[in-house]
Amino acid sequence: MSINIGIIGTGRIAGNQLAPALQNVKGARFWSVLSRDKDRATAFANQHGAMAQTNAFDSLASFLADPALEAVIIATPDALHAQQAIACARAGKHILLEKPMATSLEDAQEITETCTRERVRLAIAYHLRWHGAHQKIAQLLHSGELGKPFYARALWTWKAEDNSNWRAHDQLGKWWGLAGVGTHCVDLMRWMMLPICGEVTGVTGLVDKSTYGGPHDETASLSLQFGESVIADITTSVQFSATSRFELYCSDAVVICDGTLATDGGGSATVNNEPLSFELLNPYVGEIQNFVDAIAGTARVAVSGAEGARNVEILLQASS
Ligand SMILES: NC(=O)c1ccc[n+]([C@@H]2O[C@H](COP(=O)([O-])OP(=O)(O)OC[C@H]3O[C@@H](n4cnc5c(N)ncnc54)[C@H](OP(=O)(O)O)[C@@H]3O)[C@@H](O)[C@H]2O)c1
Repeated sequence: MSINIGIIGTGRIAGNQLAPALQNVKGARFWSVLSRDKDRATAFANQHGAMAQTNAFDSLASFLADPALEAVIIATPDALHAQQAIACARAGKHILLEKPMATSLEDAQEITETCTRERVRLAIAYHLRWHGAHQKIAQLLHSGELGKPFYARALWTWKAEDNSNWRAHDQLGKWWGLAGVGTHCVDLMRWMMLPICGEVTGVTGLVDKSTYGGPHDETASLSLQFGESVIADITTSVQFSATSRFELYCSDAVVICDGTLATDGGGSATVNNEPLSFELLNPYVGEIQNFVDAIAGTARVAVSGAEGARNVEILLQASS
């Protein structure tokens, strides 16, 4: 039995990562696609081998009316997620929703509540949880092998060529660097720290918008406190490009990752200056596989709507 999965949006992440990864997910197949443009939908469906007889749509209602469509991956601008996800849930389709799941806490909660009411699975797409090095570090940390954690920090940036991307504008995005990569870092920190220290109890943030002077963060720095102990600093930017870095300081170990905050599952990691070997995994295959297994009832969704909503809340607190 294969679960039929449709994709909404034919952009960068859908075309470069999600549709190709779907080909390597067990128990699922790429079924159909929705675009604002019918020709673009047809080209995308052909390129990635969508299996439905009618596989390319430019109307959300027609796309969702297909009874054979069981699940949807939503990969559109952040401010469109709520309306699209709620429509998918009401049509009885399971949802893998790109991050950040919404641009307001109210929308994030409404998506989660609708999915619960309609009894569909909702997973939020934080692919860093399926990076081989991060998985090994989480396992070492959670089993106590690294000792007590005290401090962590993450740096993830890229250099935007201009401010034409929808993330830089009010109507389709709420944050720029924080939405592009910062939200991933928040999820990474919560995944690592929550089982040991409990929830985020304090958030501070500083934002610079000086290059373009638009509504959203260009460089942002936030500090999170977990429980009453660990502090985690996160810096994102669209003003410069640098190798990403994730550092974790514990009583018995210092962990340094270079280039693992990325899309490709690569980079390097050391524990106390010794190289950490890890499997080179495609994180998007892992992310979609978890979603499919959760629909099949053989796994729990790794990042729930409630976790996605808490992430949105933290971004709002850090950038207000
Ligand atoms: N997890 C990750 O690693 C990762 C990486 C990048 C992005 N993302 C997330 O994925 C989502 C899409 O990001 P992206 O980088 O793929 O963006 P993108 O390249 O701009 O693609 C977004 C797509 O959404 C569709 N869309 C519908 N209405 C639109 C509108 N009014 N303006 C622009 N596009 C519209 C477009 O497809 P049609 O023209 O076919 O309608 C467009 O190609 C975002 O939520 C983002 O945060 C996740």
